[in-house]
Amino acid sequence: MIHNKTIVLTGASSGIGFQVLRLLSKSSDNKILAVSRHAEQLLGNFADNVIPFTMDVSSKEGVDAVFEKAAEVFDGKKIDLFYANAGFPYYEEFNYEDWDRVETMFNTNTFSPIYTYAKYIHHLNGRPGILAMTVSAIGQMAMPGYAIYSSSKFALHGFQEAIRLEAPKNLQITCLYPVATDTNFFRVANPVSFEKPFPVQQPDVVARKMVAGIESGKKFVSPSPLFGLSKVLMGVCPPVRTVYWGLETAKLNRFKEKLRGMNVEELEAAAQKIGKDIIEKSVEAVEKGKEALEAALKK
Ligand SMILES: NC(=O)c1ccc[n+]([C@@H]2O[C@H](COP(=O)([O-])OP(=O)(O)OC[C@H]3O[C@@H](n4cnc5c(N)ncnc54)[C@H](OP(=O)(O)O)[C@@H]3O)[C@@H](O)[C@H]2O)c1
Repeated sequence: MIHNKTIVLTGASSGIGFQVLRLLSKSSDNKILAVSRHAEQLLGNFADNVIPFTMDVSSKEGVDAVFEKAAEVFDGKKIDLFYANAGFPYYEEFNYEDWDRVETMFNTNTFSPIYTYAKYIHHLNGRPGILAMTVSAIGQMAMPGYAIYSSSKFALHGFQEAIRLEAPKNLQITCLYPVATDTNFFRVANPVSFEKPFPVQQPDVVARKMVAGIESGKKFVSPSPLFGLSKVLMGVCPPVRTVYWGLETAKLNRFKEKLRGMNVEELEAAAQKIGKDIIEKSVEAVEKGKEALEAALKK
């Protein structure tokens, strides 16, 4: 059990990050700075040892602000564990010339954790620490419909591989490679619903495996055994990958067909509804998580 630690967790208000927060906050001597753009709204009274901090980590200024806040709330003590988990996808056909849309994703998914690494090793200054990062199975195996997301996570995967060769010995780096996980991820990816890639896991399962991996000093955590197996299988028998990609491409084609059948008003209505849905789902999950945490602490 991770206990008596100062922890920064980004993307803490939903999905995998929220389930990690639930697990870490069970040890009342952990102090956790829980960061997201809606952190105070969603985690305002989650637990006494959780300090919500509303911040967008997609810029240098945002990450700097997180480190400054950590220094304040941890009374200048070092950050024992920094978990850079915040990230988001697009699910789409990539056929547009929009530099800013691509940059927005790389800012959050790639540049933010890379900059965090640099800041964190300076912050540690030789003292032991753990940097955890959520990469993705899609950062090792590309998928149709996720070209920009895949590339942002492949870049992060390359970074973690390279940086291990030069990282200071006082730093543990633990990276998570989830397959599709049933979170707000798929609502954020496109306001119009679509078929998820196979297989799908639950965020509490993914979070449990990641927390255990951090604890035992693992370099990589791959929560779905199927992913490891399929990588081996596809390596020795490439037609298996061709069939899998064929099935996933068929899903993208069905999605494109669905979009073609929708008019502008329907698309606008879906876009308006989705923001509300995401917050509602997050509130629901936090409420359930709070009840479960209170029940666990009473035992
Ligand atoms: N779900 C999957 O299938 C899957 C698979 C592989 C990898 N992943 C990765 O897992 C991580 C967590 O995703 P999830 O599935 O748990 O999705 P999620 O339920 O949408 O959670 C994402 C979290 O990140 C926060 N966030 C997003 N952009 C942010 C920003 N710029 N600054 C601060 N916080 C930000 C969100 O809160 P706010 O909106 O309040 O900021 C939310 O708390 C991501 O890195 C994602 O790429 C997910």
